[in-house]
Amino acid sequence: MCGIVGITGKNDNAVAVLINGLEKLEYRGYDSAGIFVTDSQGQANLVKVKGRIADLKDKLTPDIKGNTGIGHTRWATHGVPSENNAHPHYSENGRFFLVHNGVIGNFKELKDKYLADVKFVSETDTEVVVQLVEHFSNEGLTTKEAFKKTLSVIDASSSYAFLLMDKNEPGTLYAAKSKSPLLIAVGPDFNGVCSDAMAMLKETHDFIELTDGDVVVLTASSIDIEDKDGNHVDRKPFHVDQDASASEKGAYEHYMLKEIDEQPAVMRKIASAYLNEDGSINIDDALLKAMNQSDRLYIVAAGTSYHAGLVGHELFEKLAHIPTEVHVASEFGYNMPLLSEKPFFIFLSQSGETADSRQVLVQVNELNYPSLTITNVANSTLSREADYTLLLHAGPEIAVASTKAYTAQIAVEAVLAKRLGEIKGIKEAAQFDIKADLTTVANAMQTMVDEKHDIEALAKQNLNTTRNAFYIGRAIDYDTAIEAALKLKEVSYVQTEGFASGELKHGTIALIEEGTPVIAIITDPKTAAHTRSNVQEVIARGANVIIITSESLAQPGDQIVLPDVNPLLTPLVSIVPAQLLAYYTSKQRGYDVDKPRNLAKSVTVE
Ligand code: G6P
Repeated sequence: MCGIVGITGKNDNAVAVLINGLEKLEYRGYDSAGIFVTDSQGQANLVKVKGRIADLKDKLTPDIKGNTGIGHTRWATHGVPSENNAHPHYSENGRFFLVHNGVIGNFKELKDKYLADVKFVSETDTEVVVQLVEHFSNEGLTTKEAFKKTLSVIDASSSYAFLLMDKNEPGTLYAAKSKSPLLIAVGPDFNGVCSDAMAMLKETHDFIELTDGDVVVLTASSIDIEDKDGNHVDRKPFHVDQDASASEKGAYEHYMLKEIDEQPAVMRKIASAYLNEDGSINIDDALLKAMNQSDRLYIVAAGTSYHAGLVGHELFEKLAHIPTEVHVASEFGYNMPLLSEKPFFIFLSQSGETADSRQVLVQVNELNYPSLTITNVANSTLSREADYTLLLHAGPEIAVASTKAYTAQIAVEAVLAKRLGEIKGIKEAAQFDIKADLTTVANAMQTMVDEKHDIEALAKQNLNTTRNAFYIGRAIDYDTAIEAALKLKEVSYVQTEGFASGELKHGTIALIEEGTPVIAIITDPKTAAHTRSNVQEVIARGANVIIITSESLAQPGDQIVLPDVNPLLTPLVSIVPAQLLAYYTSKQRGYDVDKPRNLAKSVTVE
């Protein structure tokens, strides 16, 4: 949530580096943006806009240049999206400039206590911080001391990644972090700071992780990290082995379609990462032991990852015979249920940075319970802080609506569940041929992707003007229905509910009227007939029904027929047409598919 980037170098290319970085970070928020740059003569420029990075670029002129700067792309928390509320924020005397990712819990108290006479120009919590730096510097402190004193009065409920510049010290960047992610980008003749390595992969592949409480002073040739106890520490950089072009759109009009299309390849990538030639599974024995010793798995996640957890619940119970609960992270943390004797926690998170999930992991670590993070981003916060990590190998996911990370999460859960069950000698796991099944899934996904133009036509006929819609299903198809509904609502703004088809008649059927789209997912042989009856009930009340079903359960007139796959893995295939329906509905309505209104991809505030 909000992206920040900074550079201190020797060349006058800071603007280009910041703009490129912000474009890569735009997935974190895109309602306003800004940069502050200084050159070696001390010339300084601040440019801010309400809108996208493209709007910021339009406002730049060739005379705005420098070797040092900070930039920000915003997802509003305090104060509406506007130029005044856009970062960087500056202090009253125009000396200090600050960008911030996170939330300052006690900003009102700080404002009242220290800044009663200061004239504020924004409604943000961030401006309080930069005004505090000026306030403490006026007491005779150096910039670093004033920054540290400011950090010391920010309360523990807050989260922040800060980048601060002092106009009197062009060429120096000050950074600090607590809870929000921040990395140092290490270059040969420059140093940078960014929320996500992707922002600076064009410049360098070497990054240093910062941990909570770190305060950093950077110049083009020096990196000084002070940890939370005030010790100067030397942290070794890690190398990010990823091509900057992996996050490019190529010939695609939108990332969302590119990422939907990549799913068959992701399935193959997961198979090659986790399965040996002979089909045996390659997962850390210590992780498997810890999981098999537990008496209950607790899956904790948010958004689409939570929905992948719902499918995981079926997989872990059916293949590994371990009772499993799935929880929404933002609920779990502040209302923890009675835990079993030997709980094991699984955090599902594409980004590995979601604040709601992280606050649970912090508590789990305090309680000393074992944990695993399943994530797409190596070295992300959740990965670093959990005992074990399994990577999704899905490649960068840029569209805000998650597609390939969802199916990757389910595939990795399936591999893990199979291995756990196999070790315990469980029949269902032994019979589950994950290698062959993932290949069949990849082929079935490809069939769906190849039929995208039929789905485009279905979207046009059925979803182009509707205000609301339903996805229904039972058992594993209900899990898919919930994710399918989220996909449609988040990108096309059609109010969509995912519903257990049998439950519809207990109230919600009252919403069905002439023409209401009801999309039924029918891949579970045990419940297919019942869902078909529920379909008749809504047709009788005027619903406009679309059926997504497996080949072996298909009936004449069904609109979307999926190739058969292992019944436990059908969510991997049945979600693909739903993703495509969402994509085309959004596109046909003329919306910004990759950056839906009000959303952000990485949500680093609670
Ligand atoms: C945001 C994104 C969702 C995502 C959720 C959890 O809300 O818009 O697409 O599912 O965060 O993110 P995570 O990175 O933890 O999977």
